[in-house]
Amino acid sequence: SAAPQQPSVTREPIIIAHRGASGHAPEHTLASYRLAARMHADYIEVDVRMTKDGKLIAMHDATLARTTNAETVYPRRSPWQVGDFSLADLKRLDAGSWFGKRFAGEPIPTLEDIIHTLKSERIDAPLYIELKQPGIEKSVVQLLQKHYYLQRGRIIFQSFHPESLQTLRPLIPNGIPLIQLIGERETARISPNELLEQVAVYADGVGLPLSLANQEWVDAAHSRGLIVHVYTVNNPHDLARLCSIGVDGLFTDYPDRPARIAACH
Ligand code: G3P
Ligand code: CA
Repeated sequence: SAAPQQPSVTREPIIIAHRGASGHAPEHTLASYRLAARMHADYIEVDVRMTKDGKLIAMHDATLARTTNAETVYPRRSPWQVGDFSLADLKRLDAGSWFGKRFAGEPIPTLEDIIHTLKSERIDAPLYIELKQPGIEKSVVQLLQKHYYLQRGRIIFQSFHPESLQTLRPLIPNGIPLIQLIGERETARISPNELLEQVAVYADGVGLPLSLANQEWVDAAHSRGLIVHVYTVNNPHDLARLCSIGVDGLFTDYPDRPARIAACH
């Protein structure tokens, strides 16, 4: 006799606030993270880099030029590489004005500033940490342990660097997901199936660019037990398509877009 039919379950993808609510406030500032939390994002994304004196800060780019006034404050320190500056140097910078006058004076936050701020506002939003440079894994793990994020399972890790994820694995509790980010051009030299087979050895999922996200990728990933998160999704039409092909999560600069719920049903 025929097997009983499983009811079809449409699961909504989790919403990850990309660099905070970075469509509304300057990326990777406390203003942006607070807003993301108030918008009830499922996770808040933080890109993490290390300063010259070994402190962990939130910053997407390798240089300070795009999102701070470093060129004005430190005119002789071109090319303004994050790792050439101490935390004290960085704390003198304005990371908000480039986005809008009302954010003037927003500082670059440390990862610990972010944790303290969320705690002080009684916001228990989980963090989706990207390791932007290999070599910072131990420091990141230590800090997250100090604040019980790892023990409580309130973290997902992601990186474009396989070695970062491989280094993390023995340092973290079971059940903390590791997501291998895939670049736009990654599949020029390797087929999706080969790539996913390699990733499945050490990671729990893939972060796909929107341009690669289709049914074939999602099915291939799911068949290997890998979850699929997609970056960066700001358009409601893309959102609807991604829901329909069964992605597990998406990064968006607008975690408040009301279309997010409607699009999935
Ligand atoms: O982490 C997902 C997405 O953020 C990767 O791209 O350049 O925004 O860090 P990027
Ligand atoms: Ca990122």
